[in-house]
Amino acid sequence: MGKITIAIDGYSSTGKSTIAKQLAKSLGYIYVDTGAMYRAVTLFAMRNGVDTNAEKLIQLLPEIDLKFVFNEALGYSEMYLNGEHVETEIRTLAVSNLVSKISEIEQIRIKLVDIQRDMGKSKGIVMDGRDIGTVVFPDAELKIFMNASADARAARRYKELLDKGEKVTYQEVLKNVQERDYIDSHREFSPLMKAADAIEFDNTDMGLKEQFERMHSFALRVIEKTN
Ligand code: DC
Repeated sequence: MGKITIAIDGYSSTGKSTIAKQLAKSLGYIYVDTGAMYRAVTLFAMRNGVDTNAEKLIQLLPEIDLKFVFNEALGYSEMYLNGEHVETEIRTLAVSNLVSKISEIEQIRIKLVDIQRDMGKSKGIVMDGRDIGTVVFPDAELKIFMNASADARAARRYKELLDKGEKVTYQEVLKNVQERDYIDSHREFSPLMKAADAIEFDNTDMGLKEQFERMHSFALRVIEKTN
């Protein structure tokens, strides 16, 4: 059976990665969370005191090594920044508050898109992000654009952060979601946009099981047609 490329884009906290992971697992495909790459660059910028200095950060780009390492126990890959496991650090609200700003920088996008295309060159990949169906893989056989109301997304994110022990208020999380929506969809380079041929998928009132079943059947249909 020939493999396809699946691009999943959408607003922050729409649950893209949860569904993308399940889909990749069920198809035996590789899963790539591109948001983790932008988050890792953001963490690097914060640690090196260059989070407000794009020029300096661009100079330091060659020193940033990003790797996904497969975690057998979890069944998916995790992000390593210069050899260090950073999955926890990149998911804090501090990183979330800054990541949209960092991902506006064109040179950073160029570097990360190069790495992403390389990871997908043999197909058999489910990649999630903001520009996967529009820029990274415009020829992907299946493109999904996920959305949900800002309230539903903030409520999910708030619960996740509380579960991780972060001290945040719902209002702070909602503000972060709305600000990221604005920056992600208004930036100059590769703004968040639904590709013309993407399937729009609103999961405001949809449970995980139903989401997975729908996505899985989209994928099987396309795989069958492609072979
Ligand atoms: O998917 P996420 O929330 O982890 O992504 C974090 C940020 O990274 C998001 O606010 C915008 C940026 N991003 C991007 O610009 N392009 C991508 N392909 C993925 C993420």
